[in-house]
Amino acid sequence: MIIEPIVKGVVARNSHPAGCKQAILNQINYVKTAKPIESGAQKVLILGASSGFGLASRVSLAFGGASADTIGVSFERGPSDKGVGSAGWYNNIYFREQAEQAGLIAKNFVGDAFSPAMRAQVIEYIRAEFGGKVDLVVYSLATGIRPNPETGEMWRSSIKTVGEPVTGPTINIETDTMEQMTVGTATEQEIIDTEKVMGGEDWESWIEILSEAGVLATGCKTLAYSYIGGKSTYPIYHQGTLGRAKTHLHTTSDKLNEKLSAIGGSAHVSVCKALVTKASVYIPAFSPYILALYKVMKQQGTHETCIEQMQRLFSERVYTSGVTPIDSERLIRIDDWELDASVQQEVDKLIAKITPDNFAEVGDYEGYKTEFMQLNGFGFAEVDYQTRVDFDSLTQLQP
Ligand code: NAD
Ligand code: NA
Repeated sequence: MIIEPIVKGVVARNSHPAGCKQAILNQINYVKTAKPIESGAQKVLILGASSGFGLASRVSLAFGGASADTIGVSFERGPSDKGVGSAGWYNNIYFREQAEQAGLIAKNFVGDAFSPAMRAQVIEYIRAEFGGKVDLVVYSLATGIRPNPETGEMWRSSIKTVGEPVTGPTINIETDTMEQMTVGTATEQEIIDTEKVMGGEDWESWIEILSEAGVLATGCKTLAYSYIGGKSTYPIYHQGTLGRAKTHLHTTSDKLNEKLSAIGGSAHVSVCKALVTKASVYIPAFSPYILALYKVMKQQGTHETCIEQMQRLFSERVYTSGVTPIDSERLIRIDDWELDASVQQEVDKLIAKITPDNFAEVGDYEGYKTEFMQLNGFGFAEVDYQTRVDFDSLTQLQP
């Protein structure tokens, strides 16, 4: 069959395996030529390893100087009668192939990272086949639902404001149009539920359980990712429900840092740059900011994608010979280039000009859409999309 992209709104309904492989190769090639991680993690567990920042962390740690063995946990869909499957499914497979060719362990667990069963499987694997301990745990889950471990009922996050509603334009990738939409105000319950899904509770629980199981190495570090963003985005992000959840995550990192200091380890949150990922395109009224940011950062030569961000994070922040640089709230700031004053000034000017008629010229819509399509394996010059893909052989591929 020939695989054509299927996009509904801002959600990709399929992926191209050959393009996913190309994306993995490109990321590997990038980190091999970038400033290396001098010495760092050897045994890493990544929760949310199949796309975005988690996948980039995995590639960076394996191929960017540290030669780490990795365990990746993710929630992805393989080929079935419903279709070819999700990009993350193929990312897992092709990452593992490349890592194994380089003599590294790359174990994939596909399933619900929130479940007790997943924790048990991972611990069992660390003990039996991964040398008994991990020295880094990366927490990079992004999702809209989390089961309550006590009742099994679902908490659902809401991407809403706290206080006043905000009306702003948002991109529809399917139709290449910009539509006005209103981001409503969250109820107290919606704020709490969003904290449950995207805050630090599950991260803390993972670290507790790994610690109790005795599988955290002396000096073990843990990291989670956050976003703060430019002032123009505060009403929809930093001061909204997602920002509340991130504040919870930041507080959790302080707790975990205390706990891990007992074994000479540490916990940090790294604040990252706004990027096009499966998760971020979903944030209403956020796209004009990303369009403007991409335009300005590309003009200034400071644009990075997930892989550049993660390689810089590990080589210049986390695994440096000195102490990890942090801000007054103990956060690692790898969003420094995004928040550069001259960048934000230009971004504000562009956002003021963006309308549903001119967004593709004023902002970097081409870059936005290209990155989105490539996340799903489409739009790589190196891939011949007219070559037929054999569905049966896809079903033979195992994570
Ligand atoms: P993403 O959608 O690309 O990746 C999310 C990962 O979580 C995937 O591997 C997915 O399979 C996994 N996942 C989701 N639900 C799961 C479940 N129940 N069980 C197991 N795995 C599950 O998202 P991303 O943008 O890379 O986000 C990762 C983190 O980075 C989030 O904390 C996000 O807030 C943060 N962040 C993102 C941006 C951005 O602009 N994209 C900026 C700063 C920080
Ligand atoms: Na991720």
